[in-house]
Amino acid sequence: MPSTVLILGVAGRIGQALAGAFADAGWQVRAQSRKPLPAALATRPLVHTVHCDALDAVALHRAAQACDVVIHALNPPYTQWDRLALPLVDAAIAAARVSGALLMLPGNVYNFGRELPPLLTPDTPEQGNTAKARIRIEAEARMAAAPGLDSVVIRAGDFFGGTEPGTWFDLALASKLNAGRFIYPGRTDIAHAWAYLPDLARTFVRVAEQRARLRGPHRLHFAGHTVTGEEMRRALKFASGRPLRVGALPWWLFRLASPVVPLWRELLAMRYLWERPHRLDDHALVALIGAAPATPLQQAVSAAVASSGLVRQDAGVAPA
Ligand SMILES: NC(=O)c1ccc[n+]([C@@H]2O[C@H](COP(=O)([O-])OP(=O)(O)OC[C@H]3O[C@@H](n4cnc5c(N)ncnc54)[C@H](OP(=O)(O)O)[C@@H]3O)[C@@H](O)[C@H]2O)c1
Repeated sequence: MPSTVLILGVAGRIGQALAGAFADAGWQVRAQSRKPLPAALATRPLVHTVHCDALDAVALHRAAQACDVVIHALNPPYTQWDRLALPLVDAAIAAARVSGALLMLPGNVYNFGRELPPLLTPDTPEQGNTAKARIRIEAEARMAAAPGLDSVVIRAGDFFGGTEPGTWFDLALASKLNAGRFIYPGRTDIAHAWAYLPDLARTFVRVAEQRARLRGPHRLHFAGHTVTGEEMRRALKFASGRPLRVGALPWWLFRLASPVVPLWRELLAMRYLWERPHRLDDHALVALIGAAPATPLQQAVSAAVASSGLVRQDAGVAPA
């Protein structure tokens, strides 16, 4: 019998990558989404769409029957975390408990607060000194406290390389490649943690395959690529085949507009992540699954650029 995974939020960035990776590995995939999935995903034989809102408890209960794994890949709009993030994690917990499935969550580094240290281990103390840190700490605490629930948070850096736009990679770094510019939100000599989505999604599969060893709550860190802005600029230069000048993200504009543009206010509050070098320590993950999938940086960046459509063919660009 193939194993079954219910992916909540499958239309999102990691959701789509996860659905592909689990189907590639021969899992039955129940793909929860509010909107139609891209045809390439919806038409895969092992992918079965579950069309509902994740807060529809009855529909989710039905979808979660006889699942081995539930993945909480939902993400409320960035400006509505205070209202929706915790109800969504409660919904995911309830779904996993229907059949005693392992609940998996892609974690982020917000939990460590504004002064995050340079090396983040699964035991690094959390600091609830931003609104989003407090929400993430509470979400993971609810997972850990749910009686009888097996759960694992796989924490990762900023996503890149998926099919769904909306990451710092496509909205900032690679957004002006056609104009020969590399837009960076911080100092280019500071290390920043990135997660190439195809690698992270395959890591979820490998961890899910070890679910018999994951009783109770667990936390694992996915190292991904820890690189400076300058290293990213060089990889993007090679990928786009043209020189790239560094341009700063106009944070002053975000500050100016933040009283009237809520999203920009929220993004401004997370600026510290571009000013604090940080990397994720993956020892616990490696102890569980062996070496994690790790596409070389240049290959990952080139593939991300090619799949994003961010480079115009008429711009004289020769993809590496
Ligand atoms: N993005 C990153 O760089 C990053 C890095 C590390 C960890 N993470 C974590 O990974 C998780 C997923 O992030 P993501 O960037 O992949 O998310 P995303 O692309 O923003 O997508 C999440 C999906 O959640 C769905 N959703 C939200 N509320 C819903 C509801 N009530 N019912 C049904 N669907 C709902 C959305 O559906 P609609 O399209 O219908 O609105 C969307 O497709 C989050 O916990 C995030 O913090 C993200």
